Amino acid sequence: MSVSPEQEAVEQRLVDTVVASFDACRSPRLREVMTALTRHLHAFLREVRPTEEEWGAAIEFLTKAGHITDDVRQEFILLSDTLGASMQTININNEAYRDATEATVFGPFFVQDSAEVELGGDVAFGAPGEPCWVEGTVTDTDGKPLAGARIEVWEADADGLYDVQYDGAKRAARGHLFTDADGGYRFWALTPTPYPIPNDGPVGQLLDAVGRSPLRAAHLHFMVAHEGSRTLVTHIFPEGDPVGWNDSVFGIKESLIKTFDQQPAGTPTPDGRAVDGAWSRVRFDIVLAPSGV
Ligand code: BEZ
Ligand code: FE
Repeated sequence: MSVSPEQEAVEQRLVDTVVASFDACRSPRLREVMTALTRHLHAFLREVRPTEEEWGAAIEFLTKAGHITDDVRQEFILLSDTLGASMQTININNEAYRDATEATVFGPFFVQDSAEVELGGDVAFGAPGEPCWVEGTVTDTDGKPLAGARIEVWEADADGLYDVQYDGAKRAARGHLFTDADGGYRFWALTPTPYPIPNDGPVGQLLDAVGRSPLRAAHLHFMVAHEGSRTLVTHIFPEGDPVGWNDSVFGIKESLIKTFDQQPAGTPTPDGRAVDGAWSRVRFDIVLAPSGV
């Protein structure tokens, strides 16, 4: 929509005045951020030209997001996730480096102090789901094995819920372990299944209004740390997942899609463990970038 030169001048004068209001800001970075925010916000308003009712609806949306947010529910991060802002911030802060494994969203379900499991141990801790054997190596970008790397894993169970979404303090479908002298690791987990992000708040209503699904592509979370390496926060996604590229938080990346080989009931397991029914297996070789890149 075009506006008259007089109207254009009124609108531009306001932008310039707000930008100038940050001239005395003592922090150059804060000044840069506030100036860019003002320019982009006003460009958005001048393009969309909201009615006052629409402006009010936006304020009400943010107010509801504030009201539903508490120590465990963070609706503003969910908003950032569903607009791709979290993923873009991760892209910016984890620059591609040689063949280093790509990062993706952290999500709200990580818990400090998960239980340690031995190599070959089971992080399911009784959570429902199909057993999945996960194995691989952790190396640096020169291919050197990284012994003693700490691998944290966490995931939703077959009902699409993380342990922290149940009443009670039981911890399941999460744990940590350390790589062996050759950088190798192996453990039992659950074959990942798709699940919805929390959608009973304003972000869920927004997704519904725009015709988007709250489902996340099935995934298994990893956080991998080793002295001298950039800590990697990522997931692996089973190939052929029905949600796939429609992941509600835009976390999927081609390099993170892995083949989870289905094993019919009765197939011998890699460690001789007796498994009732079918299971799956996946290999994920992790490459850590050096810290500081
Ligand atoms: C998750 O991976 O569990 C998640 C990530 C972003 C928003 C909600 C959930
Ligand atoms: Fe998740």
